[in-house]
This record gives sequence, structure tokens and C-alpha cells, in this order.
Amino acid sequence: MASTQMLSLLAVFVAAAAIPLATAENFTVGDDNGWLPDVNYTTWAQGKVFRIGDNLIFNYIAGAHNVIVVGGDEFKLCNVSAGRAPKVFSSGDDVVPLQTTGKKWYFCGIADHCSRGQKLVIDVLPAAVSPAPSPAPFVNPSSPPASPPPGPVTPAPSANPPSPPAPPSSSWRIATDVSMMMAVAAAAAAIVMA
Ligand SMILES: *[C@@H]1O[C@H](CO)[C@@H](O)[C@H](O)[C@H]1NC(C)=O
Ligand SMILES: *[C@@H]1O[C@H](CO)[C@@H](O)[C@H](O)[C@H]1NC(C)=O
Ligand SMILES: *[C@@H]1O[C@H](CO)[C@@H](O)[C@H](O)[C@H]1NC(C)=O
Repeated sequence: MASTQMLSLLAVFVAAAAIPLATAENFTVGDDNGWLPDVNYTTWAQGKVFRIGDNLIFNYIAGAHNVIVVGGDEFKLCNVSAGRAPKVFSSGDDVVPLQTTGKKWYFCGIADHCSRGQKLVIDVLPAAVSPAPSPAPFVNPSSPPASPPPGPVTPAPSANPPSPPAPPSSSWRIATDVSMMMAVAAAAAAIVMA
């Protein structure tokens, strides 16, 4: 009896561990085009969901382009404001981590590339909440209280293992404890009767 319950409990744990945690995604900006002028990055970004923990990967020939992290006004003007020293990536294989929610703007600061469309704006959403029971999802303290994550919800992996649904964990634990105690009592009784 007890061992059957222990096995079911084990099965529940194994099933929970098998649910994939929401994994970070790498987005190659422009896909096969890479990072170039005369590509429409608005079109590229359309329909994509960017989340904290994801990376943007900018691929280009080093020296020919770069990636400057700018603000919205700078983005509009294709010009970095006077006196500002923005973050610039220039390796040609730049991994840009998305660490905060909200709009992020990037452009190439070489020649007229930005005005030729080598610019990207995205909107970063909070990290995806995994269906696994724990640990508690990370909540960015600077972002509003975590309401259900906006945007398209990642299709939940069919979360229910084929075994019957688990009862609430507290009563489950009590049931297990009780059956353990009964097993101990039975063993003790057997010893006494022997
Ligand atoms: C994303 O790219 C980084 C850097 O190249 C790499 O370390 C990481 O494994 C990649 N992650 C995924 C999910 O592909
Ligand atoms: C890029 O594509 C979007 C639609 O995806 C369009 O609204 C926009 O005008 C295009 N930009 C350019 C510079 O062609
Ligand atoms: C770009 O910014 C610089 C200062 O950083 C300024 O001198 C220049 O006039 C600006 N150009 C445009 C087109 O806004």
C-alpha cells in the first residue's frame, strides 16, 4: 500500500521534472539576411515574441556594420544624442541579451545604414512562466505586478501525465504520512505478536 503510493508520488515528481522549463530563445536578427541595410526589420520582428532571457544575435561582417543600443528618439532620427556614449556591439557575431521589459531600439551607426533601414525596434515581455509547480517565476521588480503574461501564450506542453491528477500536495503528504505511520504501526504490531 505504502509502496504503491510512494511509486505514484515518484511518478508525479518524474512527470513534473519532465515538463520542459521555458527555455530562452536566440533570435538571429534578419535570419539568413543577417544585419544589413535595405532589409525591413519591422517585417522580420512581426509576430515574434521577445522575452527577458532571450538573446538577439546580430550577424554581419565586422567593421562593415555595428549595433548601437539607442533610445526611441535617437532611433527616429538615426542619430545618437550629443554627449551620450551608448553601448555599441561590433564583433560581427553579437549576442545582445534581453534583460528588461519594454521597447528596445538598435541601429547601425555606420554611414547612412540606419536611414536605409538597418534599424530594429522590439518590445520585450517578461520571462515566460513555466507550468512546473516551482520555483516561483522571476519577477522583474521594476515591472508592474505580474499579471498573466501578456501576448500569445506559449502552447502549454500537455501538462497532465497519463496518471490520475495529483491531489493537492498537502493532503497528499498527509495521506502518505498516514500510510507510513500505519505501515510502521503494522510492523510494530507484527514484532509484538511474534
Ligand atoms: C544562444 O546563443 C548563445 C551564445 O551563442 C549560446 O551560448 C546559447 O547556448 C544559445 N542558446 C540557445 C537556446 O540556442
Ligand atoms: C517595413 O514593413 C512594414 C510592414 O511589415 C511597413 O509598414 C513599413 O513601411 C516597411 N518599411 C519600409 C522602410 O519599407
Ligand atoms: C546628430 O547628432 C549630432 C550630435 O551628436 C548633431 O550635431 C547632429 O546635428 C545630429 N544630426 C541630425 C541629422 O540630427
